[in-house]
Amino acid sequence: MDKKDLKPTLLDGKKGDLAPGLSRRSFFMAAGAAGVGGAASLLKPTQAQAQSTDWTQPGNNNHVIDLQNAGSFPDGAVGIDFYGHCALKITSPGGATVMFDPWRDDPSGAWGLWFKQKFPETVADITMSTHTHFDHDAIDRPVSTMVLDRMVGTFEFADLKITGFADKHACVAPGWYQWTDALAEFGVNACPPNNVGHMDMVTYVIETGGIRTLIWGDNRPDPGPGFWDAIGQVDVLTLPVDGSQHILSYDQGNAIIDRLKPKVVIPTHYLSETTTYTLSTLQPADEWVKGQKSYQMLDSASLQLDAASVTGMDREFLYFGHNAQTS
Ligand SMILES: [Fe+2]
Ligand SMILES: [Fe+2]
Repeated sequence: MDKKDLKPTLLDGKKGDLAPGLSRRSFFMAAGAAGVGGAASLLKPTQAQAQSTDWTQPGNNNHVIDLQNAGSFPDGAVGIDFYGHCALKITSPGGATVMFDPWRDDPSGAWGLWFKQKFPETVADITMSTHTHFDHDAIDRPVSTMVLDRMVGTFEFADLKITGFADKHACVAPGWYQWTDALAEFGVNACPPNNVGHMDMVTYVIETGGIRTLIWGDNRPDPGPGFWDAIGQVDVLTLPVDGSQHILSYDQGNAIIDRLKPKVVIPTHYLSETTTYTLSTLQPADEWVKGQKSYQMLDSASLQLDAASVTGMDREFLYFGHNAQTS
């Protein structure tokens, strides 16, 4: 069978078609009215079909089996590759790779076009997502042996240890664009305790090569009970702060940094000309970065960090700017 014959069938068995009587425009409008991800509610349960195409992806699990069989792992640097927005690939000294938060456009169309291309079909041993928003959950795009979607608890494999802590999404927009008000227009609560499910979040701590990295995702600036103790000492902190202050404000970001005192800060969730459209309403993070005590404007999308050099740093901003991996 040719691979082109393996494409999934959409809605009602009609490839590429919408449900009968539903124009594309009315589909998007109804989806928006139902909230992010609400499009599924337009379908009868008998019409719903899984859209995962992972079973058609190239490659196999040989690399994961090699890691599984390895008796020991070398010391060395930790690799961080930036794929734009909140997508980062971390490579352990032993060669295990984890991709966090691959992005896509909102499939309902309600939130418009954010990204200039589909997320690259990059090979990573593990793909993880912090929450179900479209700009964080294209878990089908990386070519991965394992997908750990919204994982809470502890996972250990090869020379990686990953801990997921369940918390909540930032639910009050601090910037000019009051995007959290749209949820009230959709008839759902943005804030806990009765928040709609897509405002649930998981933050991740990755320990490898003697470096502890915190993936903040879109978490709220004032996390719930137990968060700070569970997170502990952080060496590398990723934070979603851009010039429009879409998720966190400059002050909120700075307060988190003052509290955690990480060695390194990596800004995320900002406008990268390589990956992201202005329609996202995001802005670059340059202004926030240049207001910091110490920062480096990186000239590539790839970074190598070793524990010995990180130990000597203090809240050093490493900013990828418009550099992003595209394959
Ligand atoms: Fe989000
Ligand atoms: Fe986001």
